[in-house]
Amino acid sequence: MSDAKLVYVCEGGDCTERGSGDVHDSLKEMVKAIDPDEARVRVRRYPCFGACECGINVTVWPDRLFYSRVGKADLPELVENLLKGGCPVQRLRGQAKPDVEEMVWSLLDSPY
Ligand code: FES
Repeated sequence: MSDAKLVYVCEGGDCTERGSGDVHDSLKEMVKAIDPDEARVRVRRYPCFGACECGINVTVWPDRLFYSRVGKADLPELVENLLKGGCPVQRLRGQAKPDVEEMVWSLLDSPY
């Protein structure tokens, strides 16, 4: 099993309207430039986190980082954190309701 971090970009209706497709594609491209084989980070789409009011939402598992209101301008800092030892991007955290975050982590932690 891979030890790569999984980064999920929401592709639900609200996040898509805010441009999550572009965010996903750009982030994937930026990660691939540093980690072409996805050995350390995999960027994937996610159906909906249930925090639609504060999209675009992006999560990092298993680090339990739940980022909200993510725009393309934030991506260099996310990549810095994911692949270059930078700190998590605090200003994008803590916007989703805690119970929604917990539900997402329990789903992602589940082996099924
Ligand atoms: S549409 Fe993105 S969290 Fe629901």
